[in-house]
Amino acid sequence: MELLKKRILEVGAVVSDQILKLDAILNHQVDPQLIKAIGQEFARLFGESKPTKVLTVESSGIPIAYATAYELGVPLVFARRKKPVTMVDDLYVERVPSFTKGIVTDIMVASEFLKADDRVLLVDDFIANGDAARGLIRIIERSGAELLGVGIAVEKAFQAGGSSIRERGIRVESLARIASLEGGRITFAD
Ligand code: G4P
Ligand code: NA
Ligand code: NA
Repeated sequence: MELLKKRILEVGAVVSDQILKLDAILNHQVDPQLIKAIGQEFARLFGESKPTKVLTVESSGIPIAYATAYELGVPLVFARRKKPVTMVDDLYVERVPSFTKGIVTDIMVASEFLKADDRVLLVDDFIANGDAARGLIRIIERSGAELLGVGIAVEKAFQAGGSSIRERGIRVESLARIASLEGGRITFAD
């Protein structure tokens, strides 16, 4: 997606060989026009498979997932990282390591919002090692819902997350694939 790549080159800050800071558009401040375009692109890519839900995990996946769900005309569900007091019913909980934070956290979805007849599009802002995505996939599997595919805004192709999910036969669409951040330079994969 050329617009996303252009914005990444404009505002992206290479923090290390592993980490790209996109706080100006995705992870702290949010660019609504760009997010809307990302939602339209995921809806174009996955609309034919007729999703009934878009699933992400809080917090940075939410704007993209919202835009996608809005375009598709279906609900967005975001996995919680902390259990709210209102969340008392049956939960699917999965433990995931976080590459960026270096800790292990739980992500959870109430079973009432993910049913066996749901057709789920998984969406997230970044994929690194893919632990967050794999945790969400385990939740979808436990619910009995069908996973249609995974939409990622920024894939760090030098880390194994995207390819490890594709190897399982799951469709993964990334709108910007980054081959390298070495030398402080952003190099795209295509
Ligand atoms: P992984 O699942 O792919 O292994 O990576 P990780 O555990 O780090 O989970 C993805 C989280 O890390 C997401 O945030 C994602 O946005 C962030 N992330 C991974 N690599 C980068 C990067 O190079 N730059 C930025 N800006 N973020 C990255 P999160 O932990 O879910 O927190 P939140 O921001 O959604 O609250
Ligand atoms: Na994030
Ligand atoms: Na995320």
